[in-house]
Amino acid sequence: MKVTVVGAGAVGASCAEYIAIKDFASEVVLIDIKEGFAEGKAMDLMQTASLNSFDTKITGTTNDYSKTASSDVAVITSGIPRKPGMTREELISTNASIVKSVAENLIKHSPEVIIIVVSNPMDTMTYLAHQAIGIPKNRIIGMGGALDSARFKYRLAEALGCPGSDVDGMVIGGHSDTGMIPLTRLATRNSVPVSEFLSDDQMSDVKEETKVGGATLTKLLGTSAWYAPGAAVSAMVQAIGCDTQKMFPCSCLLAGEYGLSDICIGVPAIIGKNGIEKIVEINLDADEKAKLEESAAAVRKTNGLL
Ligand code: LAC
Repeated sequence: MKVTVVGAGAVGASCAEYIAIKDFASEVVLIDIKEGFAEGKAMDLMQTASLNSFDTKITGTTNDYSKTASSDVAVITSGIPRKPGMTREELISTNASIVKSVAENLIKHSPEVIIIVVSNPMDTMTYLAHQAIGIPKNRIIGMGGALDSARFKYRLAEALGCPGSDVDGMVIGGHSDTGMIPLTRLATRNSVPVSEFLSDDQMSDVKEETKVGGATLTKLLGTSAWYAPGAAVSAMVQAIGCDTQKMFPCSCLLAGEYGLSDICIGVPAIIGKNGIEKIVEINLDADEKAKLEESAAAVRKTNGLL
C-alpha cells in the first residue's frame, strides 16, 4: 500500500516512522511546503531502514502532489500546532484554509484515497474535509479518539499501578480539553471494571488528566506532542492497510447515529480497507449521553467559525 503523510513536522515524521517500523506499507510519501524539509526527513528515516529492518520506501517532496498519486491512505497533519496555553480551537483560522487545499490536492491525484485528519481543531477539520471534497463519508476519518484513549489507558495504568497492557478503555466525544468523554464506567483491568480498584475520586482524577492530556504535554514540550499522535494515526493506517476491522474511537461524519447528524465527532468505529466500515452504537447511560450532546454542541460552535 502507498501512504501519503502531509506535513513532515514532528507528528507527520513520527507517523511515517511508526508506519515504516511496522513494515506493512510498501511506500510512504512525506510532503511538506518547506523547501527540502520532507526530503530531509525521508532521507534520515531511510537511513534507519537497515537498523530497524524495514522495507518500506520513504520519499519526500516539496509540495509536489503528483508524487502522491494513487495513494491508498493519506494522513493530514499540516497546519500549525498549539503553543502552551492555547486551545485547539484557536488554530482554526490558520489551519482551515490549509486543510481545505491539502484535501483538494490529495483527491485530485488519488481519487480513491482514504483520508485521516490529524490537524486541529480535529473534529472541525474533518468536517471541513468532508465539505471540501464530498467523497463517501467512510473515506474521511478524524484521528482523536485513538490518541485520547491511549492517554486514558496510560492514566488508568498509572492509577492502578499496572502495565498499560492490562488496561482497556475508550474516550469518545470531541477532541478538545472540555469535550472528551473518558468512559470510566466501561474501562477494565483484564475484564474487571476499574471501579473495583479505584475510588470515585481516583476515577475523576484520571478523567480530568486524560482530558487535558494534550495540553499537559504542550506545556512541558513548548509545542504539541508527537509520539502518541504518530503512533495512534499509524495504528489507524495499519487497520486500513491490513483490513484488520479493529475498533477505534474516531471522528466520523454522523447521520443519525447517537442522535446526531451533520457533525464529525468521536465515536467507536470499525476500521478496515474501506476506512470506516461501521459506526458502533454502544449503550450510553444518561450522564454519558448528556456529555456527548454537550460535546457535540461545542464542536458545532467551532464548525460555525468555518
Ligand atoms: C494532541 C494533538 C495531536 O492531542 O491534538 O496531542
